Amino acid sequence: MRASIRTKLVLSFLVVIALSGLVTVWTGVHLIGDEIIGQAQDKVRLDLNSAKAAYARRMDRVTDTVRLTSIRFFLKEGLLDGRLEPMAEELQRIRESEGLDILTVTDADGAVIFRARNPGVSGDSQREDDIVGEAMATGKVVTATQILPQAELVKEGSALAEKAHIEFVDTPMARSRPESRERAGMMVKAAAPVFDHDGTLIGVLYGGNLLNRDYRIVDEVKEMVYQGETYKGKDIGTVTIFQNDLRISTNVLGAGGERAIGTRVSEEVYDRVIVAGSTWIGRAFVVSHWYITAYAPLADLNGEVIGMVYVGMLEGPYIDLRDRVALTFASIAALTFILLSAVMYGATWNIIRPLRKLLEATEKVARGYLTFRVQITSEDELGQLARSFNSMTEQLESATGSYAALTQNLEERVRERTRELEETQEQLIQSEKITSLGKMAAGIAHEINNPLTSILLNSHLLAENVTSDGEASDNLNLILEETVRCSKIVKGLLDFSRQATAEKVPTDINQLIEDTLMLVKSHVLASRTDILRGLQDGLPAVHVDPGKIKQVFTNLIINAIEAMPDGGTLSLASRTSDDGTSVEIEFSDTGCGIPEEIVKRIFDPFFSTKKGKGTGLGLSVSYGIVKHHGGDITVRSSVGAGTAVTVILPVTAEEGDGAPAGGSV
Ligand SMILES: Nc1ncnc2c1ncn2[C@@H]1O[C@H](COP(=O)(O)OP(=O)(O)OP(=O)(O)O)[C@@H](O)[C@H]1O
Ligand SMILES: [Mg+2]
Repeated sequence: MRASIRTKLVLSFLVVIALSGLVTVWTGVHLIGDEIIGQAQDKVRLDLNSAKAAYARRMDRVTDTVRLTSIRFFLKEGLLDGRLEPMAEELQRIRESEGLDILTVTDADGAVIFRARNPGVSGDSQREDDIVGEAMATGKVVTATQILPQAELVKEGSALAEKAHIEFVDTPMARSRPESRERAGMMVKAAAPVFDHDGTLIGVLYGGNLLNRDYRIVDEVKEMVYQGETYKGKDIGTVTIFQNDLRISTNVLGAGGERAIGTRVSEEVYDRVIVAGSTWIGRAFVVSHWYITAYAPLADLNGEVIGMVYVGMLEGPYIDLRDRVALTFASIAALTFILLSAVMYGATWNIIRPLRKLLEATEKVARGYLTFRVQITSEDELGQLARSFNSMTEQLESATGSYAALTQNLEERVRERTRELEETQEQLIQSEKITSLGKMAAGIAHEINNPLTSILLNSHLLAENVTSDGEASDNLNLILEETVRCSKIVKGLLDFSRQATAEKVPTDINQLIEDTLMLVKSHVLASRTDILRGLQDGLPAVHVDPGKIKQVFTNLIINAIEAMPDGGTLSLASRTSDDGTSVEIEFSDTGCGIPEEIVKRIFDPFFSTKKGKGTGLGLSVSYGIVKHHGGDITVRSSVGAGTAVTVILPVTAEEGDGAPAGGSV
């Protein structure tokens, strides 16, 4: 299911709409269709009643004519006196004027005296005839429909037999019969007894209408009920009188446009109406079309069904009407469906648009645009969703921000710590180096000191005894010189190891500087060095061991002088530090300077660039002393321009870390 939510929404709504639409249309069309057909059937039922009434009128008319004629004087006269002439004349006139097919008079035994239709045939007995017999027996007028066999018809008149003779015409759906023609006829017939003055039966008068090919009833009903209405060139309404299953009088037309005389009813209708004797209302295939029909049985005097009356309306107009209604219904439903689809499509946009915006927003946030916010356009679930999305993004943003800050902070702190660690490690290495060297040097110096003193003493003694200026005297002086140098190294080593034993007293640093200058006066003069003083007045007294600090100052001044072999300026400055807790003494020369790569090593014991002349202990001993006083030595130097060494000493007495350590550069 890869379709979008919108498609799914629209589709599911449309399925619901389509289903309900179909159900509505289907039900509606059927209800209306049934209603239309039902109304047509109601109408046809009424029409059937009209047809039955027309049939009854015909019977009444025959009855009336026969009854009224039977009480006429000429009839009694003829029967009683045998005066047939005037009677015959009258009867022929009445038959013609009243439109009867037959009008016959019999004597009291039923023997035919005179047939107005067929005067040539008489003397036969009609006593066995149902209607005549009944009239004789009851003494009343009797009327009924009757099937007259061909022989009887011939007696009444050969033209009548001719008229009744009907050849069968086969049509689709017609009931099949072995015969191919009908020779009997169906007649509406009335018989009235004729009495003399004292009420004795003197004869019977009977008359009737042959229904075969007599279209008066059917056309009258059709005209009255359907008024010539047509549909697509065909008469809408049709009326038929059946003799048994055979159309003997009808305005249903056959294929050639002629009256469909000789066609027969369907088996279904036959069974229902003729066999079962009930009325049929419903669809029926009549000759060549479907009709909405009604059939009613016609019974003879004995109640036996001998025929039917039928009315029917073409089903076409009703079916068309029903179809038109269905089509209209379906069209309206389809239009509604299309309209609803469009409305649905539009309506879903209101749901889809915020969803799409949210989707875009999630993609943006996923790509890192944490400042992106969704616009809230509604207060429904989607609005709430957008709101919580925004607050989620906000939290994400602030969490990410603080995370980044934390990371940066951490990185900075790690860098800082690493730097500190590296420094500490360097200092540790330096101090370890110095400590171990110091211990070793102290041991060696201690062991060497006594033999060295002894060498020096004996060398002096020897020198006193050797007076000549010969080679021996030169050698002896070299021994003395080197031995003095050795004892200097040893003294330095001993100083280096004996730093712990400092005796600190409040000391005037400026005075200490002046004292030191006095000590090195000869060196200064020899090296043609200018001394520049920049000593601050009123320096606080500093707690130091004056001897040791003097040693430091001496070392620094000697170094400066040695850095300026061709003379220069040595500036001496003293000042209180900015925070007033220490005193700073700076020795800056205009000497050779110290190359960058060896600055770090100048505090190392035995590091010297003065081959053979320097011990390399001067700075390391000085550094040890200053550190022991809780102070520090820093160096700034540039090659060719000079070097500035600064000694920083805390004002108040403070125990240093004891062990000598590397200086700061
Ligand atoms: N003011 C300075 N100008 C230039 N280089 C200096 C200065 N002070 C120290 N140095 C350098 O530092 C080195 C170490 O000095 P340090 O005083 O420890 O030993 P030294 O002077 O060589 O020997 P000693 O002090 O025993 O005579 C020197 O060899 C020199 O290279
Ligand atoms: Mg030195």
